[in-house]
Amino acid sequence: MADELVRQLKGKGLAAMAYSIETISSAEAAVLIGESALVGFGYPIYGSDLPDPMKNFMAGLPEVSARKTLVFCTQWLWSGDGAAIGASFLKDKGYKVDWGEHFLMPNNVTVSIIRLPYTNDPARLSIILNRARKRIEHIAEKIVSGKPFRRGFNLISFLLGCLQRLPYRRFYHKLRNDIAVDSLTCIDCGECVRLCPAENIYYNGNDYLTRGSCILCLRCYNFCPVTAITYMKRSHLQSRGEPYRGPVENFDPNVLTGTNNQRTEY
Ligand SMILES: Cc1cc2nc3c(=O)[nH]c(=O)nc-3n(C[C@H](O)[C@H](O)[C@H](O)COP(=O)(O)O)c2cc1C
Repeated sequence: MADELVRQLKGKGLAAMAYSIETISSAEAAVLIGESALVGFGYPIYGSDLPDPMKNFMAGLPEVSARKTLVFCTQWLWSGDGAAIGASFLKDKGYKVDWGEHFLMPNNVTVSIIRLPYTNDPARLSIILNRARKRIEHIAEKIVSGKPFRRGFNLISFLLGCLQRLPYRRFYHKLRNDIAVDSLTCIDCGECVRLCPAENIYYNGNDYLTRGSCILCLRCYNFCPVTAITYMKRSHLQSRGEPYRGPVENFDPNVLTGTNNQRTEY
């Protein structure tokens, strides 16, 4: 979504860049923010809340003076105030959030314990992406014209967000540490270790173990080439096909960690 927004802003004559927060330090971010007239922050919504790395990243941001700011989130169905909750983490730092938006994206929760519907069908994915692209077009126009637009920044959305966020925060520590690697299926490729944004999975020379720092992104679960990752002791249900493999065919999640600098065109 960030790459697509950049593409559209460039198409409208603005100089724009997108970075994964996994590839830059807070100090580098501070320099970039210092040089930018407008900054944007985007994240996938988890239980109407921000993933931990985004919260930590925002906590380390420098103070600015009335910097024009966009906050957006991706979500499968709804979050209530998904963008506004991100803006609340920027409060008191001088970020003036004039733009806030939510983009519906494919569901990435494919664990066997809940069995939510998901798809890897390129035709269905492209319908979802095209719809999101239209919304990006809309927010890009608002940004270029300087007209503020904030979806979900109101009391009702906040209350709806709380309905999901409060139980999620309450049970997060119970939900988060049930990822494991099934040693019988594992082919020792190390992809789960490389992809984990929380350094949760590590290899001790014999086994793949976890440190208890899982943030529930499910990247290991979804992108293990042999579906050897289990969640709550359940492996992926093979009858459901492969787990979610990203928003486009042949999506390479290494673009997020910086181990692959090639950008995917959507
Ligand atoms: C732990 C977790 C919690 C989620 N909570 C929500 C939610 O509250 N509302 C929603 O619409 N989607 C929710 N989702 C779905 C993701 O927000 C959505 O699929 C997002 O686009 C995933 O982005 P990614 O594939 O870039 O990680 C959740 C996903 C995860 C892993």
